[in-house]
Amino acid sequence: MSGVSIGWGKVILLGEHAVVYGYPALAAALDRGVTMQAVPTPAGGPLRLDVPVWDLAVTAGALDDHHPIGRALGAIADHLGLGRPALSLVGESQIPVGAGLGSSAAMAVAVTRALLVWAKRKEDPAVIAEAAGASEGIVHGRASGVDVALALAGGIGVFRKASGLRKLALSTPLRILVAATTEPRNTADMIQRVTDATNGKKEDPRLAELGSLTDTGTTALLGGDLAGLGAAMNRAHAVLAGLGVSTPKLDILCDAARTAGAHGAKLTGAGGGGAIIAIAPREAEGAILAAWKERGVVGFQTTIR
Ligand code: MEV
Repeated sequence: MSGVSIGWGKVILLGEHAVVYGYPALAAALDRGVTMQAVPTPAGGPLRLDVPVWDLAVTAGALDDHHPIGRALGAIADHLGLGRPALSLVGESQIPVGAGLGSSAAMAVAVTRALLVWAKRKEDPAVIAEAAGASEGIVHGRASGVDVALALAGGIGVFRKASGLRKLALSTPLRILVAATTEPRNTADMIQRVTDATNGKKEDPRLAELGSLTDTGTTALLGGDLAGLGAAMNRAHAVLAGLGVSTPKLDILCDAARTAGAHGAKLTGAGGGGAIIAIAPREAEGAILAAWKERGVVGFQTTIR
């Protein structure tokens, strides 16, 4: 049995969707994610992936396989040139699946790392990013790479499709409140919804505004101005809602956080359900978590360093 490999979950503070079109996104890894272990199957058999907490059990498939995760697993193994070794990749997750917290990228990075450990190959970040990116392309279609970059590197930074992740060093750790709804959603559908709303044009003013909100919010964060960061997040949520990727429930939860004292709240990730985040003065955190709980959603606090 080989060691345990990890891919981090993530939150996007600003810039989701616009990042697909080349604008910057401010994103941070969570302090939790997906862990994976490669267990050889001495009697032989297919390359398998089991994540019991997600009720996921697939075998590596070819590109025409019906199960997207089976195809994604096959794509990772192909990318690494490993064929189909007789292995079970056994995963655990501390993040919900399909909630906008980067579970599929975390899984792809953890799978890639576990396969490299099993093959006794060195960790090469570029190789991991490409293999996990191939998986994300199958699961999400037009992915920017932001989820994979954070799942791999951890920390916080500004991601651009053209130049990758530029990590930021925070002088004070950033506390974020996160809550995942159970509304069913699909990232590829949400990316398509934004394409329909903007005719796929980068010049669309709403995408441009999301990009400039990333710049404003990042400057505010680095200057310790959490109210400024929160204001950028509130505006970003409104723009994302205008693009059609919020839901009444996400709007209600964001409003509840603001009423309970948050500097800012917004959906995070692709939207259409999934998770929300809030930045708040420390003394308001309890009231925000209670307001979410009253509305049937259990949140948690995470600290970004
Ligand atoms: C998903 O976490 C964020 C999106 O911008 C898609 C992507 O960048 O790959 C919606």
